[in-house]
Amino acid sequence: MAADSADWQRVARPPEGGATLFPLQATLRLSDGRSIDIDAQGFLICHKGRLQAWKNECPHAGSPLDWIPGRFFSEDGEHLVCHTHHAIFDPESGDCLSGPCPRGLYALAFREVGDMVEVPVTAERLPERGGD
Ligand code: FES
Repeated sequence: MAADSADWQRVARPPEGGATLFPLQATLRLSDGRSIDIDAQGFLICHKGRLQAWKNECPHAGSPLDWIPGRFFSEDGEHLVCHTHHAIFDPESGDCLSGPCPRGLYALAFREVGDMVEVPVTAERLPERGGD
């Protein structure tokens, strides 16, 4: 899917072991067919020198993963943790390694533009994954 500059927003590159939160526009589709626009979040991490971007929504019950804004990593920095029911995720693949989640994290695209990083504006229109 082609994406123009209006589809992207620039965010700060997180430090090693850190995360940058960013807003995402999303649409919630109701069972009666209606849809409402909601504000969601994504987060960009740097783990072992590699960037990854994920939607800040646990695949178990849909809550944000962080209970302290911007804190996603386990104490040892090796995993991402959902603080609601303590599911553990692989920071590079997003796979659920432990906990009640039925699937892994929702991946978001990102692209490095010089010293900056760009991430999507919406959760729906996902440009092809980049950054490798
Ligand atoms: S909401 Fe994340 S493990 Fe339950």
